[in-house]
Amino acid sequence: MKKLKRRRMVGWYNPIQLGRTAKDVLVSTLLGKHNDKRVLQAIADSGELRPKYFYEVNKPADEEFWFDYIADMGDGFNSTYTMAYHITRHELTLKTPENKTEETQKGDILIFGGDEVYPVADWKVYEERLVNLYDLAYRKKTEGQAKDPANHPYPALFAIPGNHDWYDSLVAFMTLFGREKEFCGWECPQNRSYFAIKLPRGWWLFGTDVQLGSSLDQAQMDYFERVVKKHMKPADRIIFCNAEPHWITDTMYEKERGFAEANMGFFEGHILNHQVAVYIAGDRHYYKRHEEIENWDKKIPKDRTWKIQKIVAGGGGAFLHPTHRESDKIVGKRHKFERCSRYPSALTSFLLTFLNLPLLFWNLSLGFVTGALYLLTAQAFLADLGPFSLGRIVDVIPVVGTALVTKPIALFWSLLILIGFFLFTDVNSKIFRVIGGFLHATAHLLAVLVIAWWAADYVGNGRLIAQLTMSELLKMGFWTFLGGFIVGPTILGIYLLLSLNVFGWHHNEAFSGLKIKGYKNFVRFKIDAKGDLTIYPVGVDRVVTNWREGDKKKGEAGLEPTQMESSNKPFLIEGPVKFCKSEMNLLEPKEKEEESKHPQMITKIELDSNANLDA
Ligand SMILES: [Fe+2]
Repeated sequence: MKKLKRRRMVGWYNPIQLGRTAKDVLVSTLLGKHNDKRVLQAIADSGELRPKYFYEVNKPADEEFWFDYIADMGDGFNSTYTMAYHITRHELTLKTPENKTEETQKGDILIFGGDEVYPVADWKVYEERLVNLYDLAYRKKTEGQAKDPANHPYPALFAIPGNHDWYDSLVAFMTLFGREKEFCGWECPQNRSYFAIKLPRGWWLFGTDVQLGSSLDQAQMDYFERVVKKHMKPADRIIFCNAEPHWITDTMYEKERGFAEANMGFFEGHILNHQVAVYIAGDRHYYKRHEEIENWDKKIPKDRTWKIQKIVAGGGGAFLHPTHRESDKIVGKRHKFERCSRYPSALTSFLLTFLNLPLLFWNLSLGFVTGALYLLTAQAFLADLGPFSLGRIVDVIPVVGTALVTKPIALFWSLLILIGFFLFTDVNSKIFRVIGGFLHATAHLLAVLVIAWWAADYVGNGRLIAQLTMSELLKMGFWTFLGGFIVGPTILGIYLLLSLNVFGWHHNEAFSGLKIKGYKNFVRFKIDAKGDLTIYPVGVDRVVTNWREGDKKKGEAGLEPTQMESSNKPFLIEGPVKFCKSEMNLLEPKEKEEESKHPQMITKIELDSNANLDA
């Protein structure tokens, strides 16, 4: 077997990683904002070279149709491969919260819901963190089947890009998923970064490309408008995959409220004709489900068996995000949704936040940054604290104050620190941002003072700096650096813990540094012979960490778990959740669903780009 690189979880607080990510994010954000590549692509490609298709699933009318959704994969090996392994098993028996069991089948279609790789898109990173893993989990097992599409139709895979896929301007993503080729044994028929799939029994699956979290471009709007107006019926319903859950982000970042909601609101109302039944998105690395409770000021009758669902399921392998302290109990303004489920629980998420206290333990390299910054800060002041024994704070304050006003570098450095912490503070209110940033910066500056003072007292023994030898100065510097190495990340950890658990700030920063591999999820869907949709949210508490080589002859995956503990087994997070579309189907004249004659799972149907939509 080819030697596989088992990559660790991305170290978001690793200084080298931080620098690289910051550069890629900055360049892509600036270019993406002023030079939208989707628009350039649309201009260069009017549809003559690469026709625009929508896709139709070929499935006999009496057969159940299954498909799977997974998002935010491509991080550490164990978490990504565990989820790739579970999602590619032919059958999964899932325990429900009520201790019953549900039998589920592997999907005929697999949807990658965005952020296929971390930290930023790059061909090698895709290969090491995603492609090799799905290849190992799936293709090796079904090599024989995939060569015989007449008997075993290829399953199909469709992918939408998230912001992390866009950090190389979508080059690697389009090479992998947008060339109408194959991906690790799945047929991969899309030729754009967005798609519409006609599923059986009046269901559609739409996947959009929102680039770096911005709106939909005109070419996509036109594409979906043509599909809806020319090919959908009024009772058809859409499962809508968007890379970002705007219903959550709009609620969390109130200053931006309205932009995404207005853009998507227009799209959903005027183009999708309010036919969306299920929204699903990743980006937030947990599971949450919101259910419709009020539609344009009218309460939804309790006995209505279908209510619109909004699901966040970004649990394909990336670090966990917190599920508590998000003000999302009710989302939406006139069309309101109530949160019905979250995984992991709010209590688990609250308790996991305490892992920030030993932040240095998870991010050793961060200590080198804080150690160096503490040393530089002490050097900028270079206050003579040696003559003052520890505790004589009243005498020390004027010395430090004098250094601050008389040494330009001390003043400049202090201002730089304050601005840095102000920018780092993740809260919408400007006043809280100033207060939070000031308190956080002050805590670090006081820590520098105490550490440098202690080092001066310990090494200098009451002498002034000018009286110290070079080796004594180096010793003082070493102790200051070591103090900063330990204390800096600890103060940051305490700040993140309090910020999230008390004030609800820093949802991303308080969890990205913890690299929590567990509490992963994906979502399995079934459309039955009547047309009803059943949604199975699948959770995995702990990822597998010990693997053995699989036996190909027995049909095993490339790597199999050495041992499957009960906490490694997939289970049903809630439900299953049902959407009874058959009630809607009764409203429409019955049309016999055509029996499939195609050996392939997917048929490509060209969109008539010249058709007049108003005709
Ligand atoms: Fe993500």
